This record gives sequence, structure tokens and C-alpha cells, in this order.
Amino acid sequence: MSKLTDCPSWQALASKANEVAHMRSLFATDPQRFNRYSLTAAGLMLDYSKNRIDQNLFGLLMELARDCDIKGKTQAMFRGDIINTTEGRAVLHTALRAPANADIRVDGVNVVNEIQTTLAQMEQFVDSVRDGQWKGYTGKTITDVVSIGIGGSFLGPKIASEALRPYWSDSLKCHFVANVDGTAITEKLKLLDHETTLFIMSSKSFGTQETLTNTLTARDWFLAAGATQADIASHFVAVTSNVAKATEFGIDAANIFPMWDWVGGRYSLWSAIGLPIAMLVGMDNFRAMLAGAREMDEHFLNAPLEVNMPVIMGMLSVLYTNFHSAQSHVVLTYDHYLRGLPAYFQQLDMESNGKHVTLDGQVVDYSTGPVIWGGEGTNGQHAYHQLLHQGTALIPADFIMPLQSHNPVGEHHAQLASNCFGQTQALMQGRTYEEAYAELASSTLSDADKALIAKHKEMTGNKPSNTLLMDKLTPQTLGALIALYEHRTFVQGAIWDINSFDQWGVELGKTLGNDVLERLGNDTPATELDSSSNALINLFRQGHI
Ligand code: F6P
Repeated sequence: MSKLTDCPSWQALASKANEVAHMRSLFATDPQRFNRYSLTAAGLMLDYSKNRIDQNLFGLLMELARDCDIKGKTQAMFRGDIINTTEGRAVLHTALRAPANADIRVDGVNVVNEIQTTLAQMEQFVDSVRDGQWKGYTGKTITDVVSIGIGGSFLGPKIASEALRPYWSDSLKCHFVANVDGTAITEKLKLLDHETTLFIMSSKSFGTQETLTNTLTARDWFLAAGATQADIASHFVAVTSNVAKATEFGIDAANIFPMWDWVGGRYSLWSAIGLPIAMLVGMDNFRAMLAGAREMDEHFLNAPLEVNMPVIMGMLSVLYTNFHSAQSHVVLTYDHYLRGLPAYFQQLDMESNGKHVTLDGQVVDYSTGPVIWGGEGTNGQHAYHQLLHQGTALIPADFIMPLQSHNPVGEHHAQLASNCFGQTQALMQGRTYEEAYAELASSTLSDADKALIAKHKEMTGNKPSNTLLMDKLTPQTLGALIALYEHRTFVQGAIWDINSFDQWGVELGKTLGNDVLERLGNDTPATELDSSSNALINLFRQGHI
């Protein structure tokens, strides 16, 4: 028994979670249910009334949050305490969007000063490229920016750029290369003119194999097209916390934008890692995105638990993960510009909370991070919503939609909204056997067949969902939305007493991969590993099965 599962509020949740009435009856008996279980913050509206909660259970969730000192842990994070204990680091992605006059110290130094200096460096660079002052080595202006990075050095910039498509400048195109598969960089380089292309190499560690390999290939392409080593400074910049390695690689010191070890990769799009976003939408819109995140930060820091959006979403996820055995959580974005957001939240949440030991190294006796997946609505309705409605797994869902479209055309947005809201309603109320049978009344089926088909059409309902609305998808609301999910992730990790900010689990694969790479290049067959790895290596070496 761990101190968490030994906690009275945890034990009360374990005994009460399954006693909550079906949501159908909860709505039938409380006309004020939506008003009771919805709130607005930082330009977002959360409707969490379609969840398996009543007043008592919601109170127990808040009691658990108090028992786990969520408020104290939140303040510690914002203050710069060393909460990433296995790497001895603070966790200060929130400082990246703090006001310029804030005082947030790491090792006694106010980091806000260097953050503001870097933002100014970013602004100067972005403006010079966007207004044509920055020239390539043949004197031409830049038309294409290529961001090379992976994980948090790719997903954040790519997803946020995609989400802010209505704000892009017309003069600049941005491309993203992440995978080490040669196809990714090759297909991209086909589109580019080396005289008007600028590469942004983003790697916090400056040690990620994929990013280094892709950057070397880009550099070879650039030089093979007729440029010289001296021309690299006009076409390659780097974002990294490892300035020494970037300089050694050949990036001009003036073209290196700093990162800090107290910003995790999956929390870094607010830093210079976000340069591709700023290149496309301009620094004013990038700063507006920071401001939206800041608004959510203020809400998270100051709102009482019961009306705190990240706390409510985090605790609801704990409810389903730990008291309803939910193994996954689906994010459904009813907005084409947000189609990539579920992939971003995958790294944010799964690399943060995919852990199995507590901060003091005890193996947990409860579930931790669920699988995060999803996609854009309405596409998912024609792909996996069948499982959400009638499968055996309970999969809590988040529906995200702006009320106003950037592209109002005909009835499209009303139809999008009707699907979004209709899905949450169907998940909640389901369809009883009687209702299904009644729908078959006019069919020519025999009574026995009607009874059989009705059983197949029955839907239990009581499937939980959150609906997040915003007026419009803007830099501000996007910033608030991403910050909301960062803090939702934090709340869950704080309840589970895990370190949400390291990622030791990804080290072994990299190490073994490097060993395999060496064996792939050997003249002699691989024999020392397990028979599968040996066989796979040897099949690659022979080039056919
Ligand atoms: O997946 C491991 C990881 O370290 C992520 O946390 C990070 O976002 C990604 O690799 C890229 O790391 P870097 O920015 O150091 O190249």
C-alpha cells in the first residue's frame, strides 16, 4: 500500500466512483448540471458536465487534490524549485511566458532577463528574414525556412504553425524535417533552392542522432549546390542549450539561440524552439501566443481548485485512469487547423507521465499515464468512434472546437458543431434496448430479428467527455489551450507522485540503436545478440528477405 492508495480520499473514491448514477439520470434530475459543471478561463470554456461525477464525487476529487498538495506543488514549480529531481533541474517553461518584470531565480540568477534577451534576439532575426534584410550568400532574400528537429523540437513548432495558418505571411514558406528516414529530407530538399533557403537546426541537447544526421545532409546539399563553408553562416542557425557543440558543428556563434536545461523538450515551443512559428506568423503573434499561455498560468496559479480548469481536467483523468480502469484518453479536435494537436499532446502527456516509480523510487501500485491518441473531427466519426460508442473499453474523450471559423462557408461550421455536440450527447445518453427496438417498429423484420438487431443497436452511454470551446482559434487561445494541457499533465503527475519531467525510458533504445548501427556496417554477420536481432541485422546487411 503506497501513501497515495492509503490516503482516505483515494479510498473513498475507490468505493464511491462506481456508485454515481448514469449521466442520463444526473442530467434528468438536475437542470442546472451544465451551469454547475462548466467554467471559463483564459478565453476557453470547459463543459465537464458529461462526466461520471456528482457533487459528492467531485468533492472527493478535490479532497484528493488537497491531500496531494496540488496548490503547493504548483507554486513550487512556478517558483523554480528543483522538482525534476532525477536531473536536478527546475521546471520553468512557465518563465518563458512570464512578464518581463518577473523575478524567477535559478541558482540565484533571475532567468527572466535572459529569456527577454533571447526574445529580442529572436525578434531581430525573425524581422530581418521576414522583411528581406537577411540575405543568402548570393544576395537573395529567404523564401523557405526549414526546421530540422524531432520530438519537442519538432512537434510544438509544427503543430502551432499549422494551427495558426490564417496568420502566416505570404512571403515565407516553412518546412519541417524530423525523421532520420532519408525520404523525409530528400523529398523536402527537392522543393528548395539553396540560395533562398534558411535552415533552423533545433536540438536542446545537440546530440540527437536524427537531427544531426539531417543537418549534415542539408549542409552537404547546400555545399554541393555551389556554396562554400563561409556561406553556411547565412543559411544555418541553431537553437540549443549546448552552444559549444553547435559552434563545433560549424554554426556561427551569432546564429545560436540559447535554450536552458530547466525547459523540457516537450515544453519548449515557447522558447527559441518556436522560431519557425514566429517566422510564419511574426513576433507579435508569437508574443500573443505567450500571452495566452500566461493567462492560463495565472488562472492555474490563482483559481481555487474547484474552479481551476487544469486541476479539474487533471483530476477527471485520474478518476478514469485509477477508478474506472481507463487505459487511454482520446483528444478530438473539431477544427482542421488543430488536426495535429493530438500528436503534440501524445509527447506532452505520455513522455511526462509514462512512468512506473514514484519520486522516491518506489514502484507504483496504481496506474499512471494513459495512452493519448486522437485526431480531427469529423473524420474520427468515420474511423474509430464506433469503438468509443460500443466498444468494451472506457475511453474518456476531449472535444475541442472554436465557435467561429476562419473560413465561414455555407453550412460547414454549423454541421461541424452539430457533429461535435451530437457525439458528446450520444456518448453520454447512449440508446436503450427499448429505444433501439422502437426504432425497428416499422421494419418488416420478425419480432425475433427485431429483438436481435435491437441488442446490437443498444448503446450503454455513460461515456464521459469534456467539451472545450473558444470563440476563435487565435494565437492567444492556442497558447491558453496548450498551457492548459501542460498543467493538466502536471496535475496528474503530482497526484501520482512521479517525475513528469525526465525521460529515462528513451535512453536504452538510443543506446542499443547505436550498437545495432555499428553492426549493420560490419562485414561479418551479427551473432552475439538475441537470434531475432541477429537475424534482422543480417537481413538488412544482405538487403533482401
Ligand atoms: O524523445 C527524447 C527527447 O529527448 C525528447 O524529450 C526531446 O524533445 C527530443 O528527444 C529531442 O531532443 P533534442 O531537442 O535534445 O534534440
